[in-house]
Amino acid sequence: MKNRSLISISDFTREESLRILDLAEEFEKQPTQNILDGFVIATLFFEPSTRTRLSFESAVNRLGGKVIGFSDASSSSVQKGESLHDTIKTVSNYCDLIVMRHPREGSARYASQVASVPIINAGDGANQHPTQCLLDMYSIRKTQGRLDNLHIAFVGDLKYGRTVHSLVIAMSLHNTTFHLVSPAELKLPSSVKMHIKNKNLQYRQYTDLNEVIPLADIIYMTRIQKERFSDPIEYERVKNAYILNNTMLCKAKPGMKVLHPLPRVNEISTDVDDSSSAYYFQQALNGVYVRQALVATILGVK
Ligand code: CP
Repeated sequence: MKNRSLISISDFTREESLRILDLAEEFEKQPTQNILDGFVIATLFFEPSTRTRLSFESAVNRLGGKVIGFSDASSSSVQKGESLHDTIKTVSNYCDLIVMRHPREGSARYASQVASVPIINAGDGANQHPTQCLLDMYSIRKTQGRLDNLHIAFVGDLKYGRTVHSLVIAMSLHNTTFHLVSPAELKLPSSVKMHIKNKNLQYRQYTDLNEVIPLADIIYMTRIQKERFSDPIEYERVKNAYILNNTMLCKAKPGMKVLHPLPRVNEISTDVDDSSSAYYFQQALNGVYVRQALVATILGVK
């Protein structure tokens, strides 16, 4: 895995993903180590982020590496018309690894073809978010004690939600039963559903969130992705489709956990935050350990 880019979760085999999760467990026990001394990591964020960028930067800082980059492309020469090609070629000269988020699907794959250093895709449009996927898998395994044979409910914007796309693909390798809850307009794309079908796994589509609450080991809530809609009226129609509250959770299985890649808007009421089912803030913390494992592996220090 040394020097390899991570663009889609399909770039890693099941075993390679599990190796990252195992290593992340080691970093959770000892998150501060001086193993990246002398390495420079660039974080290029052409789209807003709180968790992904800051957890990558925290991960690298805690391992003794240095971080350069931008959190807003308007402060870079992109503002003057520089192409993605030229930006990536240039930044490759300044670092050992690039973490990039970009609004265009396929941009990360393109960057990996022009860069002279590995690229980690931190989200490309509505396509993929593989590092979120790894931390989601870590969180599922940590809370359920296993990854295999679980019932997972994905709720909300399954069409544009890149974290959903990556996690469905990854969990198709773990004999998951999928419960897909969305408005009719925001169903999981058939290109992602194909991964479930190829493994002959069970999936069911729903519009009513209440139906899946008693069935699920994990409820994976997502935000309706306002920024991906071309028609604002369509967004207005679906924006409040699902709001999970604490009362609804009384029907849940014991041990069921609510995950969310965050940011949330209103799809999880704050009264869920103090319940034993809420796991989304710990999930975000797990992102530091998983990203430490990933960076250390790609840079060949672990
Ligand atoms: N989960 C996630 O990608 O969050 P950010 O957009 O804050 O990075």
